Amino acid sequence: MTRFPVSPILREVGDYPFVRLDEAKRRVAARGVRLIDFGVGDPREPTAAFIREALADGIRETMEYPKAVGLPELRAAIAAWIGRRYGVDVDPDREVVPTLGSKEAVFSLAQVVVDLPGGRDLVITTQPGYPVTERGARFAGAEVLRLPLHESAGFLPDIDAIDAATLDRTALIWVNYPNNPTGAVAPLAFYARLAALAERHGFLIASDEAYSELYFGDEAPASAIQVADRGNVAVLNTLSKRSSMTGYRSGFVAGAPDLVAALKRFRPTVGTAPQEFVQRAAVAAWGDETHVEDARERYRVKRGLIAGALERAGLRIAGSEATMYLWVEVPGGRTSEEFATGLLDHGIVVAPGSFLGPAGEGYVRFALVPTIDDCRRAAAILEDVL
Ligand SMILES: Cc1ncc(COP(=O)(O)O)c(C=O)c1O
Repeated sequence: MTRFPVSPILREVGDYPFVRLDEAKRRVAARGVRLIDFGVGDPREPTAAFIREALADGIRETMEYPKAVGLPELRAAIAAWIGRRYGVDVDPDREVVPTLGSKEAVFSLAQVVVDLPGGRDLVITTQPGYPVTERGARFAGAEVLRLPLHESAGFLPDIDAIDAATLDRTALIWVNYPNNPTGAVAPLAFYARLAALAERHGFLIASDEAYSELYFGDEAPASAIQVADRGNVAVLNTLSKRSSMTGYRSGFVAGAPDLVAALKRFRPTVGTAPQEFVQRAAVAAWGDETHVEDARERYRVKRGLIAGALERAGLRIAGSEATMYLWVEVPGGRTSEEFATGLLDHGIVVAPGSFLGPAGEGYVRFALVPTIDDCRRAAAILEDVL
């Protein structure tokens, strides 16, 4: 009992699953086991020096409240990056808004589009997946439909299986490619099909593309921003993974002008306008690809080390075309939590697939965030214990 009311939704959604992982890690570390942590996707790579310098140069004696619409220079840098990366010409004033990382924007988007009571009250998301889409929808009072991602379908949701009545009450559909946790990539045809449905049934597509730059094949992944008509399409991206800048908190929403206009009305109240010095660092980061190529190369080396060790131990890696994740099938009829606990006893921290939704059962996720040296150490341990 609390001495005042606490939202029942807080109880219903439970603890953020990774908080439980932290507790298990503390227990094992207390026994003196050295942990190599593949649990959470927080890159432990240095941020490029020129980005840190741009941040420092952005600090002035007097710093006023930042504006929610962001600096024009940052909106222009983001639009220019979209132009170079995807060949799409977006209007920096009507189609771009910077965000404080993308998590807050993922969480609050449902509040901006869900229409209660009596209107469109459904948010569709995919699972296994980043839990914030569902949590944000729940706090916005929406109903949530989770579409499972199955390996047999390339970890793409079966959007054609959703009936018209359901689509007609949908406010928002979340998709996330390259996908956390499965590493799957979506073809442009998938976004085009979804955009056609969104237009017909009048909902918004939110495409979370946080991992767009961490790919290992010859072709860079497509974006939902590339569909012919982006009036129903919003893309969210971030510098967190691309530029190893999780601590800076810098991302953007781009696309549907009606949504960008709504966000510009919503966001000044929320207190999520990015700090101006962070925006200066972001201008530098979006303007450079060399540091991103370096990051991709480091992930490629780490993937090789861990994937090689797992495969030699007879494990199967599912999907995992892109992102910083390896999505690994749990061997031998164990649950994903049992398998993860077994690895934790040897100091290897991974996320049980079930933490990311029921369809994640049967898999564990390795976030390739430890250093290359630690990955080498972990590879030796994995080959030894598996
Ligand atoms: C799928 C996905 N989207 C969004 C984010 C949020 O990233 P940030 O808030 O650092 O931009 C994450 C972070 O792990 C993620 O995995």
